[in-house]
Amino acid sequence: MLIYSLPGMSGIGVDPVLYSKYHHLQERDVNDFLLASASILNWGNLTNKVVMDVGCGPGNTSCSWFLALFPAVKRVIAIDIQEEMISLAKILNPQQKIEFMVADISDEFVLLKYSTH
Ligand SMILES: C[S@@+](CC[C@H](N)C(=O)[O-])C[C@H]1O[C@@H](n2cnc3c(N)ncnc32)[C@H](O)[C@@H]1O
Repeated sequence: MLIYSLPGMSGIGVDPVLYSKYHHLQERDVNDFLLASASILNWGNLTNKVVMDVGCGPGNTSCSWFLALFPAVKRVIAIDIQEEMISLAKILNPQQKIEFMVADISDEFVLLKYSTH
């Protein structure tokens, strides 16, 4: 399973609706980060791979950017520590390929649970 996380502040405590509303300010950085990661880390086209988006926030990145760049992935497991972020992500991005979950990446059980995917 491939795991990625976008750089930046932890974002814990950020208002999900406000964050989502102004997400366009970060979109060029998101695109650049994903393209650079794909090139440097030799992601290829990720056909049939399961990918984890750590700290997915309101889901814009997993849905609008990641899936648009890598449409052949099998599944995206998108996690965020804030319940409100995941609730909004599910409303904004009703995508069958993305599974949004409330989870803390520092909890080793989260990685163990998905390590066989
Ligand atoms: C700067 S936001 C980035 C959101 C999204 N990736 C984007 O591109 O817009 C960081 C997110 O990471 C989440 N986060 C912080 N610590 C986390 C942790 N330990 N486990 C999971 N998510 C976490 C925050 O709740 C916040 O939604």
